[in-house]
Amino acid sequence: MKILIRPELPADYAAVAAIHISAFPTDAESKVVNAIRENGNAVISLVAIADDKVIGHILFSPVTTHPPTPEKGLGLAPVAVLPAYHKQGIGSQLIRAGLEQCRKLGYDYAVVLGGPKYYMRFGFEKASAFGLQNEYGVDDEFMVTKFNALPAGGLIKYTPEFFLFSV
Ligand SMILES: CC(C)(COP(=O)(O)OP(=O)(O)OC[C@H]1O[C@@H](n2cnc3c(N)ncnc32)[C@H](O)[C@@H]1OP(=O)(O)O)[C@@H](O)C(=O)NCCC(=O)NCCS
Repeated sequence: MKILIRPELPADYAAVAAIHISAFPTDAESKVVNAIRENGNAVISLVAIADDKVIGHILFSPVTTHPPTPEKGLGLAPVAVLPAYHKQGIGSQLIRAGLEQCRKLGYDYAVVLGGPKYYMRFGFEKASAFGLQNEYGVDDEFMVTKFNALPAGGLIKYTPEFFLFSV
């Protein structure tokens, strides 16, 4: 199957919402995506196109370190693919393209919260091994990948939109 990965356009918003609603148990992720866009925090937003329709989406938004550090980081969340298209490498293509874009834009690192078995193949490592903590009370599932430099340590916080809607 031929897959095209390209930046999200306003005409894609409804299809992107439908993807998140069908891929996640609730509509919380879709609401988070809308709020992040509205607040201008969608730094990288890519869609996957197949069969002439939008079938996947990935978003990166800024993260901050507490205490503050000079490195610039992005959080990968959410990523979703229409269930009918799972396990065909589309999520992987979105993640690889997104991380490449992070690098090109000059970001120092990216974090993700998810399954280690899946994300380690993209270069993510356990963040706590580098002294980086998270707000979700997880350990192995909070991971970081370095493009240029990692913060010396501290608590990594996602944008507040992630806490507006209950999942
Ligand atoms: C997470 C998610 C985006 C992955 O999308 P995907 O397109 O299915 O991902 P991939 O195809 O790249 O990888 C999924 C699995 O399929 C396998 N796979 C990849 N290409 C394959 C192919 N051509 N044939 C068979 N299997 C394949 C991968 O190895 C991987 O296997 P594993 O999980 O057993 O290690 C998707 O499952 C999803 O939308 N989930 C719901 C939302 C979610 O939980 N998002 C993550 C948290 S933000």
